[in-house]
Amino acid sequence: MQFTVAIDGPAASGKGTIARALADSFGFAHLDTGLLYRAVAMKGGDPVAAAHSLCAEDLTRGDLRTLAAGEAASRVAAIPELRAALTEFQRDFARREGGAVLDGRDIGTVICPGADVKLFVIASPETRARRRWQEAGAGSYEAVLEQVRTRDARDMERADAPLRPADDAVLLDTTDLSIAEAVAQARALVAARLSR
Ligand code: C5P
Repeated sequence: MQFTVAIDGPAASGKGTIARALADSFGFAHLDTGLLYRAVAMKGGDPVAAAHSLCAEDLTRGDLRTLAAGEAASRVAAIPELRAALTEFQRDFARREGGAVLDGRDIGTVICPGADVKLFVIASPETRARRRWQEAGAGSYEAVLEQVRTRDARDMERADAPLRPADDAVLLDTTDLSIAEAVAQARALVAARLSR
């Protein structure tokens, strides 16, 4: 069975948590596509060459989840040739037997426009900054909020594959939801689509 769930949204909206929970619940494989861009950015050298030569080991670096890696990723992610180099890998992953859930910025719009379920997960910038700041356990909340706003603007305003909901995506606002509530809503959508 092939079944693809596409989850997009800005940083710290909750899309990764929802994607992992859906993968667990339904036995789907999960790909955090942000990790690909983070790994390319942290590999150094020419970013397009880095994307072409990306290997499994690059995805296990310990520093990929840092704020600095996210910032660097959003800069290289604006390069069209780099995005093109990562497209086929993501599409192959989406087509795998047994179902797949991919989370990122352009999954529902560019990578998997025919996905069976599309979710666009949002939350207010203040809520997302607070989540990231609490995760980091250091630094100032204001500085994290500023980073969140800058990264949102860069991801939404780039010419190639900007962050935006697909026309047929379901919007899920997690600002006032617990993780359990957000996951339950996403799970219900997937279950409904699977039973059709
Ligand atoms: O989701 P995450 O915060 O790990 O993504 C890091 C950066 O990688 C994003 O800010 C975005 O610029 C880029 N990205 C992207 N397309 C994706 C996933 C991530 O452009 N599908």
